[in-house]
Amino acid sequence: MNDKELVAIQAARHVKDDMTVGLGTGSTANYFIKELARRHREEGLRITAASSSVASALQATEQGLPLVALEHLGRIDLYVDGADEVTPRMALLKGRGYDLVREKLLARNSDMFIVLIDKSKLVSRLGEKFPIPAEVMPFAWQMVKASLEGLGASVSLRQNAAKDGWAITSHGSLVLDLEFKQHLDSSELNQLLNNVPGIVEHGVFNDLASAVFVADNGKVEEIWKN
Ligand code: 5RP
Repeated sequence: MNDKELVAIQAARHVKDDMTVGLGTGSTANYFIKELARRHREEGLRITAASSSVASALQATEQGLPLVALEHLGRIDLYVDGADEVTPRMALLKGRGYDLVREKLLARNSDMFIVLIDKSKLVSRLGEKFPIPAEVMPFAWQMVKASLEGLGASVSLRQNAAKDGWAITSHGSLVLDLEFKQHLDSSELNQLLNNVPGIVEHGVFNDLASAVFVADNGKVEEIWKN
């Protein structure tokens, strides 16, 4: 069993009967979906799932998990997802899967948000290893780019996987990838990106995680927020 699978199985132990569970997106979240589906099938675990992307909805339905659309939900019990970077204060960088609106909605409106990573994702500040993604209204991208460049960022419009067009989120946004020349902490980044008109959502998840489960060579450490 690899570290991603290990940490996902540990998170699935926190799911109880009658919970509504938000499903994250990415390879670690897929292991969580798989384990949740196994518990549902083999142990009769009663849950309702809500997906953070088209990709996680497909995984869930293929494996027989009952899904409810986000528009029917006011709050959920638990959200479990991966992340690209995590700081010592549990700020997260997310968004390589780029469905940030749904991911942040689930993170913000869950009673508990568990983040699953391996040790390689621990960083001292956000943006250390990956650019910071921002979903933008398609007609606004040039203005958003210019605003962010004025605030010290280098900005590139994300290409799709085939590199023959632009990446488009499931509800039609474009994605900008940002690298800031100056070092900003996660709350400064969060505030700065929240204040740029035309940005629909961004990959800085500040003060949202309840716990980070870190896998390291076959062992899992659970770090809970005080
Ligand atoms: C998707 C995400 C993912 O959770 C993040 O990219 C981690 O992915 P993986 O589990 O495949 O390493 O934020 O938007």
